[in-house]
Amino acid sequence: MDGMLKSGSLHGKTIIITGGGTGLGKSMGKYMLELGANLVITSRKKEVLENTAAELESQTGGKVLPVVCDVRKYEEIVHVIKETEKEFGQIHGVLNNAAGNFISPTERLSHRAFDIIVDIVLKGTYYMTLAMGKNWIEKNQPGTFLNIVTTYAWTGSGYVVPSACSKAGVLALTRSLAVEWAKYKIRSNAIAPGPFPTEGAWSRLLPGELVQKFDPAERIPLKRVGEHQELANLAAYLMSDYSAYINGEVITIDGGEWLRNGGEFSHLEAIPEKMWDMLEKTRK
Ligand code: HXC
Ligand code: NAP
Repeated sequence: MDGMLKSGSLHGKTIIITGGGTGLGKSMGKYMLELGANLVITSRKKEVLENTAAELESQTGGKVLPVVCDVRKYEEIVHVIKETEKEFGQIHGVLNNAAGNFISPTERLSHRAFDIIVDIVLKGTYYMTLAMGKNWIEKNQPGTFLNIVTTYAWTGSGYVVPSACSKAGVLALTRSLAVEWAKYKIRSNAIAPGPFPTEGAWSRLLPGELVQKFDPAERIPLKRVGEHQELANLAAYLMSDYSAYINGEVITIDGGEWLRNGGEFSHLEAIPEKMWDMLEKTRK
């Protein structure tokens, strides 16, 4: 699949991606590099970050700075910002993408298990947002936040309750600051992806035999999961100046999944044509 934006759309922009060494963060980062951005990728694992940085640089010819940072530690976030400024100067965008998740009946969770997800997803996002926002405001620089949530940020979902609570909080943060910080020319938007295959998500949300038992594509009206380039296209657009008037928005990219599963009669797609013929006759 091709990239959507014209070449150079992110030229000269410096973008930090948390959790940028793997999965969707890596794919979105790759496309931003192809569009001319400088990239900073962060996560807890130095080796993963360094390998990804080398791979992306050789694939795109762009510049990637890997910086180890646990988003649960405010001082490490401040360090990332300092390192980024040292390497590239002004920072233009932050993609809050780092997350942790697993499936479990909620009554089986320890309070520490709940904490670990909230700390990464919600606290990690507001730590990064607060540190970067203060920096931009102090320097009188514009900026763009793009936060990765999920569609259950607004519906909630059993079996991933710490993640649902955290993503709902991130959505509230996105919308609140879109209004409060617009006066500083800081935009905040979010993307709510449906299922996009990644090692990180699949191993934790479809562990063991579940991957054979539940095909995520079956729940989706378009009958397929997402392609990384489709998400990368949307993320790059929301980071670019082409979306300069979009602020406080959350864009769903899920093939119609969440609406289908909320629709009272969506399950009627299981009725075969012959039965509809029969039902029509009984009506007439
Ligand atoms: C219940 C669990 C658990 C599980 C860990 N815990 N895994 N409880 N079920 N599967 C508990 C532990 O027992 C412990 O509590 C506490 O959580 C901390 O666990 P640790 O293993 O010490 O934590 P850590 O090594 O830091 O690992 C963090 C992690 C791990 C979140 C558990 O999965 C991780 O590093 N994830 C990062 C990447 C990731 O999750 N990516 C997927 C994102 S997908 P006790 O009480 O025993 O001390 C996503 C998609 C959403 O968000 C939407 C899809 C459509
Ligand atoms: P992933 O590859 O596991 O990405 C999660 C990233 O977060 C990893 O790089 C991980 O790196 C990093 N991370 C975890 N804890 C961290 C911490 N404490 N500090 C810093 N970084 C940390 O999974 P993914 O599927 O690409 O998920 C990316 C984003 O998309 C997440 O926000 C997820 O909720 C969202 N999402 C995914 C899907 C999907 O279907 N894949 C659907 C909806 C939403 P380290 O382990 O090295 O720290």
